[in-house]
Amino acid sequence: MRRPLVAGNWKMNGSRERVRALVNGIQAGIGSVERAEVAVCPPFVYIPQVAELLAGSPIALGAQNVCDHAEEGAYTGEIAGSMLAELGCRYVIVGHSERRNLYGESDELVARRFAAARKAGLVPILCVGELLEERERGETEAVVARQLDAVLALEGAAAFRDAVIAYEPVWAIGTGRTATPEQAQEVHAFIRARLAVHDPGVAEAARILYGGSVKGSNAADLFAQPDIDGGLIGGASLKADEFLTICRAA
Ligand code: PGA
Repeated sequence: MRRPLVAGNWKMNGSRERVRALVNGIQAGIGSVERAEVAVCPPFVYIPQVAELLAGSPIALGAQNVCDHAEEGAYTGEIAGSMLAELGCRYVIVGHSERRNLYGESDELVARRFAAARKAGLVPILCVGELLEERERGETEAVVARQLDAVLALEGAAAFRDAVIAYEPVWAIGTGRTATPEQAQEVHAFIRARLAVHDPGVAEAARILYGGSVKGSNAADLFAQPDIDGGLIGGASLKADEFLTICRAA
């Protein structure tokens, strides 16, 4: 049985004061979350603060990206996986659509970031998903397969045993337009089947999250789908009550 995971992707939001309030708010209600594992992914600079606030808490800490080079060195502006691990991170998001589309990260770069995360002992949350025009052209499966295959080619299927995949249709991110539970389930099943071609055991164990305008009001229907194992939450993870409602729905 896969344990559901709900991860909050705070993106580039926060201040020391708001981070404190948000973490304290989530902590206050975490006791009511029975089954799901919960993680928060703050901007890099707030990771030490959040780690301190979370000391002794069941809430896991994650980062929003990681350098594709495992060794430290001359990579200005990048953060090594070892640094994130040292600060207490368990998870790291790689290949978020904002990284792919706004900052030009290729499938190959994302695959290398995935590999570097694992090398540092972090659990990568690999984001995949199609643009609206790709869905309209009927290319959803081809796009998701291409993004997944880049990682499979570099790391092999076994690397997914303890990894997490997040299916995030780009047209649903921050738009208020959620995929229907059926639309999401269809792609989740496709992803699991694609892993199963390589390794059925890994496919069964891998957690596949849905992301894209998940809210307290639609989370339960999405998470009820057989291949949806939780969510990657953007906007709604910035409000403690809303985020906790989503965590309880998982
Ligand atoms: P959203 O973002 O929940 O604000 O749509 C999801 C994400 O980008 O991970």
